[in-house]
Amino acid sequence: MNVLIVGGGGREHALSWKLSKSKDVKKIYIAPGNPGTAEVGENVDIKADDIDGLLKFAKENDIALTIVGPELPLTLGIVDIFEAAGLKAFGPSKKAAQLEGSKAFSKELMAKCNIPTAAYKKFTDADEASEYVNALDDKTLVIKADGLAAGKGVIICEGKKEAFEAIELILTDKEFGEAGSSIVIEEFLLGEEASFLAITDGVTVIPLAPAQDHKPIFDDDKGPNTGGMGAYSPAPVLTKELQEHVMDTVMIPAVKGMADDGIPYKGILYAGLMITDDGPKVLEFNCRFGDPEAQPLLLRLTSDLGELLLKAVNGQLSDVTLEWDPRPAVCVVLSSKGYPGSYEKGDIITGLEKFSHSEEIVVFHAGTSRAHGKIVTSGGRVLGITALGEDIEKAIENAYNAVKEVNFSGAYHRTDIGKKALNRSR
Ligand code: AMP
Ligand code: GLY
Repeated sequence: MNVLIVGGGGREHALSWKLSKSKDVKKIYIAPGNPGTAEVGENVDIKADDIDGLLKFAKENDIALTIVGPELPLTLGIVDIFEAAGLKAFGPSKKAAQLEGSKAFSKELMAKCNIPTAAYKKFTDADEASEYVNALDDKTLVIKADGLAAGKGVIICEGKKEAFEAIELILTDKEFGEAGSSIVIEEFLLGEEASFLAITDGVTVIPLAPAQDHKPIFDDDKGPNTGGMGAYSPAPVLTKELQEHVMDTVMIPAVKGMADDGIPYKGILYAGLMITDDGPKVLEFNCRFGDPEAQPLLLRLTSDLGELLLKAVNGQLSDVTLEWDPRPAVCVVLSSKGYPGSYEKGDIITGLEKFSHSEEIVVFHAGTSRAHGKIVTSGGRVLGITALGEDIEKAIENAYNAVKEVNFSGAYHRTDIGKKALNRSR
């Protein structure tokens, strides 16, 4: 079959790399892709949110399956539009993608299904929100813009003063535009974070291996949040018992709750979890593979990805078991100097060719482009250097040894990716 992957980041390079090993996948198109995806498929110059353009391309190129990487086209209804045209697309419908697209929607589902999460209240009026905060103790609170805000819509407020400022910023000053026309104010949770992803056809829910992201820019989780500076899988904080617990208390109830509401959820369901002393609680739901979690996950997945995604779309997951490489994988993100603030583009990247034939160390491209025959930086997160190892220590060592070989001016990376897993293994 011919497949079309929508998106152009590290996750989409990992998806296309893995799909290139699928037995039934003949041709891979990536829209818009990046120089990494061009090595395993053909890039198509259509933006990920140009749904009309994508649909036209899919019709003209005999695309049997479209796989949607990022959340924006999903929340815009790409899957509904493709299905209405008789085409198969992997991912949730527009209504179901509200699980990521609206924090209030996801909180309401969690309340309805008794899914453990932080206590919350929703507001559209700044005065009412401030009155609510004023009546609380002077403690840490989390204030979230309701809609998609490119990962920036969550503000951790140390006390009332900061909470009032966050309310003003989102509801009054409209810092996140329409995404901030309502907010949720929630309880601050303490613990270790983990990413728990499952694939579902709307009925059957199959967990992927647990993973952990590293959102803050600096070591020891300091500094502003980014899209993710590295990831690893498996995440030992999610023991086998906890994984079963998360399936029973979060993933299965969420999929069942959506189906009961007449909004069947198909695709990847990603729960961002806080593992608290009272057990795992949901911080957020995402409606797609995580980036950079997809990079280590797909390096470890040994099952045929094309077959798996097609079965999910066709409602045939009930007989599927996923196979994983038992070795851990670690992804270290190389970012441009200045990211997540403003950064330079166009710096030449060297050393990539050293890993072009390895199956155990793969350099996934994210913010790269091609200029004058050279690969150059073009985004904040530039590369995701991903390596397997016999154990977590070796996987970390392999990833960081590879990081030393790849360079561009101003390249930055965290030096502690995987450290939490390493500490647990000791
Ligand atoms: P979200 O986009 O909702 O996952 O939030 C982004 C980040 O903010 C999370 O990865 C957490 O680090 C943090 N966060 C969100 N909600 C909470 C909460 N209720 N308690 C503590 N930290 C939170
Ligand atoms: N790595 C976080 C995300 O994909 O949302």
